Amino acid sequence: MPIIAPAVRQLTEDLLAFIDASPSPWHVVDSTRQRLDAQGFSELKEGERWSVKAGGRYYVIRGGSSIIAFVVGSDSLEKTGLRMIGAHTDSPGLRLKPKAPHAADGLVRLGVEVYGGPILATFADRDLSLAGRVNVRTAAGHEARLLKFNRSLVRLPNLAIHMNRDVNENGLKLHKQNELPLLLAMAEQHIDSDGKFRGLLAEHLEIEATDILNWEICTYDTQPGSFWGPELEFIANSQLDNLASCHAALTALLISDAPQATCMVALFDHEEVGSESAAGAGGSFVSDVITRLSHNLGLDTEAQRCAIANSFFISADMAHAWHPNYPAAYEPCHRVLVNSGPVIKTNANQRYSTSADTAARFTQLCEQAGVPVQNYSHRTDLGCGSTIGPIVASRLGIPSVDVGNPMWAMHSIRESAGVLDHGYMIAAMSQSFV
Ligand code: CO
Repeated sequence: MPIIAPAVRQLTEDLLAFIDASPSPWHVVDSTRQRLDAQGFSELKEGERWSVKAGGRYYVIRGGSSIIAFVVGSDSLEKTGLRMIGAHTDSPGLRLKPKAPHAADGLVRLGVEVYGGPILATFADRDLSLAGRVNVRTAAGHEARLLKFNRSLVRLPNLAIHMNRDVNENGLKLHKQNELPLLLAMAEQHIDSDGKFRGLLAEHLEIEATDILNWEICTYDTQPGSFWGPELEFIANSQLDNLASCHAALTALLISDAPQATCMVALFDHEEVGSESAAGAGGSFVSDVITRLSHNLGLDTEAQRCAIANSFFISADMAHAWHPNYPAAYEPCHRVLVNSGPVIKTNANQRYSTSADTAARFTQLCEQAGVPVQNYSHRTDLGCGSTIGPIVASRLGIPSVDVGNPMWAMHSIRESAGVLDHGYMIAAMSQSFV
């Protein structure tokens, strides 16, 4: 294995810090915004007129959980087109219901909904907590406040093996309605659990409980990210799918230096539930931003169509690394290894947006960066997942490639991947932002 350069180690440490600070899609957008602000990007509001200039650095937020950032290139947009990288801010997991607390049989539990497709068994016996956003009454109406308890607060204890004798033969199966509510506290007689829970939120946010209107709250694992392996060549954390891609794309944009082409990073919420929302990749967000950007730069409809045709979109989402304990799960000729480079994902049925042309282009970006590249195809007898790639490509008509770094345990609350791959991906993406 190649030696891990200190710069690559640092990039991966920064990734783990980014994830640890971002336990919900709203926090992901907030962390992204902080990094953009620190590098001189300015926010454009969708409800106000824009004034975009060549060389300018901007970002737009929709719904608090999707963000598009761009650097306007020095060359004409019509000629160069956009250099876009897309990823998603959401991760599968457990979300609190609107009336979550429920006291019965001596304990208060929180009712949850399953968001997307998590491996539910991995949520058991973890030091879980809550993070998300709470809508608070203000003089002008209401505002969303970010919430993150920085300590373990709730838990999903396993049933002891003495009462679940076949668990190792049959696997841990959890009934979604009955067996997922999270343990929060002892129930106290004559004390209303809903009021107590609101009090807990209010105390943390330093507001009055009566000012809480509603919330969107995720369950997250408080264990910080870590390195493992003899050379510390692997990483483990929650949400590597897809915050590793968000971080790689954002880092590539932040280190881009006065690019000729207009470079854009689009991070969308709701990928794990199909992307069909106002803020999702299936909504109008990205096309609205491109249209307004084009008009601001003086492109007419004809010039805008040229810009679209000259654009290139990299849809970045994680890939399934070869796991030697499960050889039957993989296509034998398309095993992709951790720490062996970014993966181009191909699917003839267009579950991935990759074509031969766009794959060739990404392969050459990797060659220019001196980075190895791998090819993935799912088993023919297994349905494969999809990404924002085909959605954005079909909405916009932009040539697109689906790529991602190899990882293990996708959709577990504790996923793992390779240190080298993160550096490779940033290097390859940076070749597009020139
Ligand atoms: Co994903």
